[in-house]
Amino acid sequence: MGRRRFLVVSTAAVGLPLPASGSASGSSPGLAPAGAGTTSTVGLTVNGERRSAEVDNRTSLLDLLREHLGLPGTKKGCDQGACGACTVLVNDRRVNSCLTFAVMHDGARVTTIEGLAHGGRLHPLQQAFIDHDGLQCGYCTPGQIVSGVACIAEGHARSREEIREWMSGNLCRCGAYTNIVTAIEQTAKGV
Ligand code: FES
Ligand code: FES
Repeated sequence: MGRRRFLVVSTAAVGLPLPASGSASGSSPGLAPAGAGTTSTVGLTVNGERRSAEVDNRTSLLDLLREHLGLPGTKKGCDQGACGACTVLVNDRRVNSCLTFAVMHDGARVTTIEGLAHGGRLHPLQQAFIDHDGLQCGYCTPGQIVSGVACIAEGHARSREEIREWMSGNLCRCGAYTNIVTAIEQTAKGV
């Protein structure tokens, strides 16, 4: 399904107006021109903290986090659901935040890469990425780590093959896959 067709279907499904054609700017890059359409107040618990923002209804969850809530750790890679760089947890489930509207998650609990470390200590998977060189340029890394945390919690990290399968939505242009799998495997084992 093409990008525009996806937007037609998804906006119709939630009763939102169709985004304008062409490029966009402002609070909702890639979706609609700034100021177009109706706005809503979206309230979320992000990394344990209550946050809210007034956004255009067509603002993606990714843009809400990055542009409105000051959380740029979640990366925008493809902005069309193909790379996993924008992965966050919504109520503990992995979501490509570029592909979903912020207004659909009013009241939700969101965890981003900024929310994984506690008390000055990295999450064990963050430390494992460092220990096993699970990154090169680092652009895919926040999405890889957030997705890896969920992969372990889901019980989908019992073998390297299983990790590869359940992490297949997270692409790495640098090809750091072997070390990414090792980091997840070792964290799942509690090593
Ligand atoms: S930026 Fe969301 S999947 Fe690529
Ligand atoms: S470390 Fe560069 S894209 Fe993954």
